[in-house]
Amino acid sequence: MKLVKLLCAAAVGCLMSASLSPAQAQDPIVIKFSHVVAPETPKGKGAEKFRELAEKMTNGRVKIEVYPNSQLYKDKEELEALQLGAVQMLAPSLAKFGPLGAKEFEVFDLPYIFPDKVVLQRVTEGPVGKKLFQKLESKGIIGLAYWDNGFKIMSANKPLTMPADMKGLKMRIQSSKVLDAQMRALGALPQVMAFSEVYQALQTGVVDGTENPPSNMYTQKMHEVQKHATLTNHGYLGYAVIVNKKFWEGLPADVRGQLETAMKEATKFANDIAQAENDTSLAQMKAAGTTQFHEQSKEERAAWMQALKPVHKDAESRVGKELIEEIYKEAEAAGYKM
Ligand code: LMR
Repeated sequence: MKLVKLLCAAAVGCLMSASLSPAQAQDPIVIKFSHVVAPETPKGKGAEKFRELAEKMTNGRVKIEVYPNSQLYKDKEELEALQLGAVQMLAPSLAKFGPLGAKEFEVFDLPYIFPDKVVLQRVTEGPVGKKLFQKLESKGIIGLAYWDNGFKIMSANKPLTMPADMKGLKMRIQSSKVLDAQMRALGALPQVMAFSEVYQALQTGVVDGTENPPSNMYTQKMHEVQKHATLTNHGYLGYAVIVNKKFWEGLPADVRGQLETAMKEATKFANDIAQAENDTSLAQMKAAGTTQFHEQSKEERAAWMQALKPVHKDAESRVGKELIEEIYKEAEAAGYKM
């Protein structure tokens, strides 16, 4: 049924981009922007900001319809829908491009690869970021921007002090082989699951725990079904704002230019608010009192870094040794020893 819906919507999408009669030319060009998180998150607010700016800057020639919380499509389906033209814009996590055949994006999932957001920005706004976007063109997709969320914390229904505490836990992950390797390196059992299914899976015990930036944990109410969380900041979660290539290249040049300007401003907005959104979410979860938050000691953090170090080596065959080393170089250029 979902496929029929996809194909119908795609047919409409194609019609939209085919030759427009004068009357249709007056109709606004519609951009469906689908995503899987809540509106009150860095990505949710970024999408809203883009809608506001795009409609203003195109003087209403473009209408942006934002569909949050997997309303239209779940993780895997949304990429198929984009390729078919059933939706025009997405901002999936960088951990979800493997199934599309762009496995190099999983380099962003490597534990502790970004010592801070300065290094992250050097990568997303530098040659590495551009090179990765080029890999999407052959998939009928154009990458417009990188949006930030933040560093992930680990949660479960038992204290997670040392890596050994993860042993045997069923942990929900995004569809990334690098995250699969990360959880196995900790002795946990990784389970790929759509984001919209995680709360219920935690509540019913289908999985024991998961990893998220605080903004996702809080807005999905996962703190209500997780007794413990450790502020590991062991990995990064960010997004690529992507569009259907045929649709984007089919836009009138002036409109595309206005949308690119709107995207630039919305990107700055989304990246500027990301840290504060996560800090606020963490404070709200602490205030809720349903989850015990554990701050790591230096020794504990060193033990987790040691336990997860082999994941970098393992990932060389998947994401490419050269790419990993390029990111190390960006970190070293920012003063870190990798
Ligand atoms: C997840 O699946 O955990 C995240 O990718 C969701 C999101 O888009 O932040």
